[in-house]
Amino acid sequence: MNDKVRFFITRFEELLNHEPEPGKYFHPRAYRNAAVRFRAHTGHKCEQVQRVFNTSACPLHSMPARAELIEKTGLNPFLYPAHLLPGCDLLSDSGTTTMTMEQWAQLLLGDEAYGSNEGFYELNEQIGITFGPEWRQDLNQQEQTLFIFHQGRAAEHALFFNLARLLNKREVPTLARAISGLPDRTGVFARLHRQIERLKRRTGVEPKFLIPSNGHFDTTAANIADCNIIPIDLNCAEHRSNNEQFLFRGNINLEELNELLTHLPAHIPLVYLTITNNSGGGQPVSMENICAVQRLTAEQKIPFFFDACRFAENAWFIKEREPGFSMKSLTEIVRQMFNCVDGFHISLKKDGLVNIGGALVIRQDGQFVRMPEYRQLLANLTDYQILTEGHPTYGGLAGRDLKAITEGLRTVVQEEYLKTRIEQVRRFAWRLESYGIPVLKPAGGHAIYLDVDRFFAGMSVDDRDYYGIAIVALLLIAGHRLCELGVYAFELEDVSQPRNNFVRAAVPRLTYEDEDLFACVEAIRTVYENREQIPKVEVVYGSDLPLRHFKSRFRFV
Ligand SMILES: Cc1ncc(COP(=O)(O)O)c(C=O)c1O
Repeated sequence: MNDKVRFFITRFEELLNHEPEPGKYFHPRAYRNAAVRFRAHTGHKCEQVQRVFNTSACPLHSMPARAELIEKTGLNPFLYPAHLLPGCDLLSDSGTTTMTMEQWAQLLLGDEAYGSNEGFYELNEQIGITFGPEWRQDLNQQEQTLFIFHQGRAAEHALFFNLARLLNKREVPTLARAISGLPDRTGVFARLHRQIERLKRRTGVEPKFLIPSNGHFDTTAANIADCNIIPIDLNCAEHRSNNEQFLFRGNINLEELNELLTHLPAHIPLVYLTITNNSGGGQPVSMENICAVQRLTAEQKIPFFFDACRFAENAWFIKEREPGFSMKSLTEIVRQMFNCVDGFHISLKKDGLVNIGGALVIRQDGQFVRMPEYRQLLANLTDYQILTEGHPTYGGLAGRDLKAITEGLRTVVQEEYLKTRIEQVRRFAWRLESYGIPVLKPAGGHAIYLDVDRFFAGMSVDDRDYYGIAIVALLLIAGHRLCELGVYAFELEDVSQPRNNFVRAAVPRLTYEDEDLFACVEAIRTVYENREQIPKVEVVYGSDLPLRHFKSRFRFV
């Protein structure tokens, strides 16, 4: 080959291997747009929507009209009509994925037989390929271990509801009694005590059990609390001290976990890791931390579970950041992670790359199945599922959905997909940082998190003025939808800093380009640079309701 040509090949290869840099692109996207929809043409014509919200008076680009509509919908982004958003819809990365052409093709091949359809067998096979063969439903076995659900929280509810029924038979003192007089080296018992009091106020019943986690998602926590079990979050010390150099801020606090496991083993039916840790900033959990939790829980014979919504993104961070993993394939890393747990549930609306779907999977040789106390669990889950979702082999989903999930699981661990995904979120964070806007660092996998406490640093603000809600409402007027995950969502009014007080912009998978996200950044910048002008907000409905952020209504004052 001509030396000069060789010279250019080397230079071009260097470009492709260049480290990511703010504001620059070295690598083309891993995918091409195969279908697009113009925002201005998406208005639907529902008579009631027109009548109640007067949406015909709200053309896509009229800000005053949008501001009025936002007031009508109580400044609650969950209640705002999605088709009237000209900008980025970053309310959630859940179920908002743009599916690939391969997935759309699979939808056409859906087998709509009732139960044990083709889609079930293909999904079962793929679960073995993705997570490891031990996770596959053994078709020779009578007991069901793979339960399909229509979404993540349905799987969670099934697990906690059935677990709580079995736990009712366990004779233990109340948690309040069990922790009284215990030395509190880490402060975890004081936090537990506050949560016991809060749950008792709500239910009137003394709780006996707790489920520790690195960070329960809001609906997971609510499902656990609904069974009168305390969901307790053990964020690691580096996360609490906002250590921006620490690369695994999603880790569980092992010291606190050890304290709980040592003193309260009979009160802990399960230990959790949420991968990645959504309510703690979409931060990853290291393999080292996963293995440590496995050791601690195995010593006490307590089952260990993943809330596995973003397992592939977590695996990417392990490959990128943890010593010893850069040469391993993503599937090898995923399998190593899942080799540590006794079960997991997953909302497939995230790393399943689909718009609907969930699952609960219990390992046949894991703690759960081995513990005599839980012997009935699998049978109870099967009954529960038939009562609520249908046969466990379709779990409330159409046969075609099962095929799309199978295809999504194939795509999600491809390096080129994950690289594009993670680097896009990182560029979004960099852009915000370049304007001095306080975001959680390093950026997480699926979202950027505006740090509301630092947003107002140096200003005197009252938690009960709900400035996080106000930021979201103002950005909605600008045409972008984010969501508050902070003082209001997590009921943090009496909690001192540091705390998880965020406004989250979750990035749907394969949906937006940098141009969209950077336009959103400019709107956030406008709010940040004029933060003294942000109006206070008051709650007009729902402040005492559980999961209040989904239902409440507010107004500017
Ligand atoms: C970590 C985590 N767990 C559970 C869920 C619940 O999943 P679903 O929305 O499918 O019910 C979510 C949803 O966003 C989540 O982020």
